[in-house]
Amino acid sequence: MAQQWIASRPGDLDVLSFTEVDTPPPGPGEVTIAVRAAGMNPADYKHVAGGEVADFPKPVGYEVAGTITAVGPDTEIVTGAVAEGDEVLAFRITGGWATEVTVPAKDVLHRPAEIGVEQAANLLLAGSTAAEMLHVTGARSGETVLVHGASGAVGVSVLQQARVAGVHAIGTASEANHDVVRRYGGVPVTYGEGLEQRVRDAAAERGWAGVDAALDCVGTDEAIDVSLALVAKERLVTIAAFARAEAEGIRAIAGRMPASQAYRDRIRPELVRLAREGHLEVPLARTYPLADALEAAAFLRGQHPGGKIALLP
Ligand SMILES: NC(=O)c1ccc[n+]([C@@H]2O[C@H](COP(=O)([O-])OP(=O)(O)OC[C@H]3O[C@@H](n4cnc5c(N)ncnc54)[C@H](OP(=O)(O)O)[C@@H]3O)[C@@H](O)[C@H]2O)c1
Repeated sequence: MAQQWIASRPGDLDVLSFTEVDTPPPGPGEVTIAVRAAGMNPADYKHVAGGEVADFPKPVGYEVAGTITAVGPDTEIVTGAVAEGDEVLAFRITGGWATEVTVPAKDVLHRPAEIGVEQAANLLLAGSTAAEMLHVTGARSGETVLVHGASGAVGVSVLQQARVAGVHAIGTASEANHDVVRRYGGVPVTYGEGLEQRVRDAAAERGWAGVDAALDCVGTDEAIDVSLALVAKERLVTIAAFARAEAEGIRAIAGRMPASQAYRDRIRPELVRLAREGHLEVPLARTYPLADALEAAAFLRGQHPGGKIALLP
C-alpha cells in the first residue's frame, strides 16, 4: 500500500489526512513514480481552503521528484523513452504528497543528475509561473522589471530568469532577505511606506530609465498601487491579487487558466535545462518527513519561509 495526503472537504489543514491507498497500475500514457521528494506550494493549501465541494476528496500536491517503478504500454514521457529505475520530476500532477503515484506521462520529465531531488520537486510550479509572468509582460533585454515578493519561491525564479534574458530586476523583500535578492541578480528594496520612491531611486542610481513592467508575486494593495504608479497597466501582471485584477482590469494569471497551462507545460523542458546548466537554482528552506506535512504547510503559510520546502517519504 502507498500513503497519500488527502483532503476530505474544503477547509483548513485539519481536513487533510495521511491515508493508505492502492496505487493503480499505469495504463497507456501513464507511469508510476516512487516519490523521493514532494514539492510544496501555497496553492496546495489554498486550493483545499477554496475548493469546490464536488472536487473532494482531493489528493494534495502538484509536483514531485522520484524514481519510475512502472511504465504503461506504449508510453513515453516528455523527454522521450522511459524505463523502470529512471529518475524523473513531475508537474502538474495531483496527489504528489504521497509515497507513490501513478500519473500522466505527459507531465513527467527526466531529472538530470545536476538537479537535486528536493530542488527538482520544487522547480516547475514556481519556475513556470515566473516564466509566464515575464512572458505576458513582454519583458525584454535591457528593460527593467519590478518584482514584488522577490525573495519568495516565484520571486527568485523570476529574478534568475530575468538575468538569463538580460532584463534588469528591482525586487521587494524584507531587510532580512535583501541578500537573497542580490544573490539572484536583483536590486533589493524594502516594501512598505515610501516604496514607490525607493524603486524610482534604485532605478535612477543604476542609470535605468525607470521601470518598464511590474510582476506581482504578493497580492497586497501596496504592490498593485505602486505598480500602477510606475508602469502602464498592460505591463503589470499579478499572480495573487485576483479581486483587484477583476475589478480593475489588471492581468492575472493562474495555473487553472487554459492559456497559462499551455504556456507552463511548454516551458517545462527549458526550465529543466536552465536548472541543469546552473542558471536556475531552487533555494531550499527546510525538509520535513512526509508524515509531518501539516507542520510543513503551517510553516509555509507563515508567509516568510525563506525558500522551498520538500516533503520526504
Ligand atoms: N497564480 C499562480 O499561478 C500562482 C503560482 C504560484 C504562486 N502563486 C501565489 O503567489 C504567491 C507567492 O508564492 P510563493 O510560492 O513565491 O510564496 P513564498 O515562497 O511563500 O513567498 C512569499 C513571499 O512574500 C513576501 N511577503 C510576505 N509578506 C509581504 C508583504 N506584506 N509585502 C511584500 N512581500 C511580502 C515574502 O518576502 P519576505 O519574507 O522577504 O518578507 C516572501 O518572499 C502566493 O500567494 C501564491 O499562492 C500564484
